[in-house]
Amino acid sequence: MPIAAIVIAAALVAAPVAFSADDILIADFEGDTYGAWTATGSAFGSGPARGTLPSQNPVSGFAGKGLVNSYLGGDGPTGTLASPEITIERPYISFLIGGGRDLERTAVQLVVDGAVVRRATGPNDRPGGTEALEPHHWDVKEFMGRKAVIRIIDAASGGWGHVNVDEIVQTDRRPAMLVAAARDFDVTKRFLAVPIKNGAPKRNVTTVVAGGPAVRNQIELADAEPDWWAVMDVGAWKGKKVTLQVDKLPDDSRALAAIEQTDSIKGGIPGGDDLYHEPLRGQFHFSPRRGWNNDPNGCVYYKGEYHLFFQHNPYGWAWGNMHWGHAVSRDLVHWEELGDVLFPDDMGAMFSGSAVVDTANTSGLGTAGSPALVLFYTAAGNPTVQCMAWSTDGRTFTKYAANPVVAEITHGNRDPKVFWHEPTKRWVMVLYVERAEKKRTMQFFTSPNLRDWTPTSTTEGIAGTNYLYECPDFFELAVDGDPARKKWVLLGASTEYAIGTFDGVSFTPEASRLPGQRGKGFYAAQSFNDVPDGRRLFIGWWQTPTEGMPFNQSMSLPLELGLKSTAAGPRLTFAPAREVEGLRGKSHSLGGSSLAPGGPNPLAGVSAELVELRAAIEPGTAAEVVFTIRGATVAYDVKQQELVVNGHRAAAPLIDGRLRLVVFCDRTGLEAFASDGLCYVPLPFQPRPDDRSLAVVARGGTATIDTLDIHELKSIWE
Ligand code: FRU
Repeated sequence: MPIAAIVIAAALVAAPVAFSADDILIADFEGDTYGAWTATGSAFGSGPARGTLPSQNPVSGFAGKGLVNSYLGGDGPTGTLASPEITIERPYISFLIGGGRDLERTAVQLVVDGAVVRRATGPNDRPGGTEALEPHHWDVKEFMGRKAVIRIIDAASGGWGHVNVDEIVQTDRRPAMLVAAARDFDVTKRFLAVPIKNGAPKRNVTTVVAGGPAVRNQIELADAEPDWWAVMDVGAWKGKKVTLQVDKLPDDSRALAAIEQTDSIKGGIPGGDDLYHEPLRGQFHFSPRRGWNNDPNGCVYYKGEYHLFFQHNPYGWAWGNMHWGHAVSRDLVHWEELGDVLFPDDMGAMFSGSAVVDTANTSGLGTAGSPALVLFYTAAGNPTVQCMAWSTDGRTFTKYAANPVVAEITHGNRDPKVFWHEPTKRWVMVLYVERAEKKRTMQFFTSPNLRDWTPTSTTEGIAGTNYLYECPDFFELAVDGDPARKKWVLLGASTEYAIGTFDGVSFTPEASRLPGQRGKGFYAAQSFNDVPDGRRLFIGWWQTPTEGMPFNQSMSLPLELGLKSTAAGPRLTFAPAREVEGLRGKSHSLGGSSLAPGGPNPLAGVSAELVELRAAIEPGTAAEVVFTIRGATVAYDVKQQELVVNGHRAAAPLIDGRLRLVVFCDRTGLEAFASDGLCYVPLPFQPRPDDRSLAVVARGGTATIDTLDIHELKSIWE
């Protein structure tokens, strides 16, 4: 492979070549105590930490199992940790260090004759950052033969008021240096394949395009063997020179040299042949080909396609580098991922937002015949502002030159949801605005043209509560499908919601603090604008961790929302969108049966990997009706009228004396629906690949199953 890596500047520090026989280990902090080291204060405790401490972000980059980690009790506590006296016998002292960046207060010091002669500190001096330890070394030739003490100090209590240290070694060999590095590519293909090591130090990687935009990412580059390969989409720059610049890399890192150009993931990168068939790839839930996703963004129907944008980290298994990924579908279930459309820029990372079709061309960005698709997103920089981008083909997007369209209100303002309000013939934006003391508010704006926004009203926590948190959604729904009885619903990211009225200016709640979905790991859902048949379609971020895969997290099933009258008032309902029925392959209709304790299992003859189960149950005298689906338990507790999904309880009232239950099981989770959609329980779960069994039993009495249907589902990726 052509290695065009050019070192453009030598810089900084570094260290931990493998510990070798002639090295002298000063401390590896693998014991239960600090041994001969002396601790003062409380930040260091009585012995080394084993990795990450409670409430700390994941610590990585240390050697072995133990390390010094002064996050004990959080950032508040302070203290010192001093080595016994050592004799300097090698020209270099190398170690690993992380935590706060403060040479005085979160630091390691070398003390000779009572004087501090060397010091080092971690990399972090602002919120965010990394808990990864990095190699560092001191040249100590001038002190050879002298006595010294190594002192670790945590005298800081605020943000990043801690220090992490490990693997302190005296060595003859000058440790690898961290250097700035870069490599040029004459782009001939769509992607650069970038080697990733989960948990490696995040390197600042800048993509520089001759005369064009530059994108900055923080990437856990693999210096040696990668865990997986990310793809950097450079298709827009074919025929041009693209340079990847890295702020610092060990001078023996193979990361840049390993990057190759490729046109496809399948057949083009190691691990790519498995694309969409990886063991933990949800087979009927969307997930990105590579990297991390969180919130769905910009959900909209435009020119014959549903568009699903999403919070995407193309270069990491965890959250970071927020881009907007993009996928399209004609039926809401088969998605084609197209590639990222919004890249972090000098205004910040691309946080969540929404999309509208400007049918009347109020913005002038499209034409009457070809309306623009307009995206609203949060540029999460300093300041954090609301911005706009648009497209007239649904493929290529241009950021609006006069961004931002809404200036920072508070630093915690984000996630604009925009829609057309027909009665007032204006655009409305709902924005999450976190005010002083973390007070959560939703602020409304209106606009005639999508460019100019006027604030109109603010919900101050809604009826004395203060609960709707980030990612607002806001829409009108007909109660029981009756167009004469419509209500407005305002939701936050957890799907807790308020119901009320809206006059185009302000929202007046009639009921608030209502629980939405009743499961786990379902968050930041968003409804689709401009759905042709007027359904309120909804999709959520489904927090399904996929350990060991080159991707992580997914989306829920596409859902249809409704409002149903109950004794307490109208309540939100969730149902799988009817398009999901198109995935049915083989179906098993088991008809009615009576279920008695100890009786036969009506599902004994059925096995399935991707399951849709539908049942209508009259509980009779049974105390419990228990389904087992590929090892997961979905039980109905008749007395409590609760659905219990793998131990997780949710209210599920009988309706007309019956429980109508729908359960979907994919490789990464279950989604259960009951009580005509009043009960929706999404839950991450990984069935054992070889367990395809299904069962149902009654306990404590006899129940009647009126109908029982199992549908084996087809993969959406076929
Ligand atoms: C919700 C959220 C949003 C933000 C986005 C950033 O999960 O925190 O408020 O815009 O994620 O990725």
